Amino acid sequence: MTKPYIFVTRKCSEQQLKPLYEIADVEMWPEEETPCPRELLLKKAARADALLTMLSDVIDKELIENAKNLKVVANLAVGYDNIDVSFAKSKGVIVCNTPDILTDTTADLTFGLLLATARRMTEAAEYVKENKWKSWGPLLLAGQDVHHKTIGIVGMGKIGQAVAKRATGFNMNILYHNRRRNIEVEKDLGAQHVSFDELLASSDYVVCLTPLTDETRERFNKDAFKKMKKTAIFINASRGAVVNEADLYKALISGEISGAGLDVFLHEPIASDHPLIQLKNVVALPHIGSASSETRHAMMKLCADNIANVLNGNEPKTIVK
Ligand code: DGY
Repeated sequence: MTKPYIFVTRKCSEQQLKPLYEIADVEMWPEEETPCPRELLLKKAARADALLTMLSDVIDKELIENAKNLKVVANLAVGYDNIDVSFAKSKGVIVCNTPDILTDTTADLTFGLLLATARRMTEAAEYVKENKWKSWGPLLLAGQDVHHKTIGIVGMGKIGQAVAKRATGFNMNILYHNRRRNIEVEKDLGAQHVSFDELLASSDYVVCLTPLTDETRERFNKDAFKKMKKTAIFINASRGAVVNEADLYKALISGEISGAGLDVFLHEPIASDHPLIQLKNVVALPHIGSASSETRHAMMKLCADNIANVLNGNEPKTIVK
């Protein structure tokens, strides 16, 4: 009997993928930072029983239609907006993601980005490295306080809750907006459910953690930025497409809001000469929300377990419903 064939679209740790090498022919795109070209991915998918994909791979109708043997796509991310899940389902292809294991790591990064933006940490670090530091100054690189301020979390899923938990340690007032209220979170963390508009108007830090859907696409647009405080800082650690970047740029240069911390962008990688990246009041990171080596290795292992389970005729651990 021929072994199943698995294509891994980016260089991952072979150690974590061990369960796959035991049951299948595994081929891995050898680059860590350069994605597998689309044409090649289509070719590999056409004969694959399973794909281990990255959030930068577009797994659409065209790919799925031509992947006649495909049984499972395991995405190395909690988000899966890069995959046409309903079409995959219609073709009997199971889609898996990596929830839970990245929650705390992503919340750490999100809260760290909030702190870095509020306290101008990247600007300050560059100041020292560029030898600009002449003397201690009373208002040198003075930022904004975080403690005792109001954080407004849009998207109170697991990562949102973990960010809220961190905010309690800073004695922050916590507002959130979510499709559904979460009474437990309100009781445990003292968070208050408010309308989107109320959250925008009342928050010192507006933190976006909502998944990308048709409903949330460009939710942060000129109308939203207009409703925020002039001193507000906007943090995005979900997906770039929930923001209209041209509107964000205008809000930042016109002083409609005071700063932004961005881990995600509409087009990744964003060019260093993109107008947003040129702004001093923007802290930009290269989509590293879940990037601790412990968590990324655990995510690889979970993807491998999910694929092995499906190919062995068992239930995957984390299926996208
Ligand atoms: C995810 O897993 O969806 C995150 O964006 C990774 O950082």
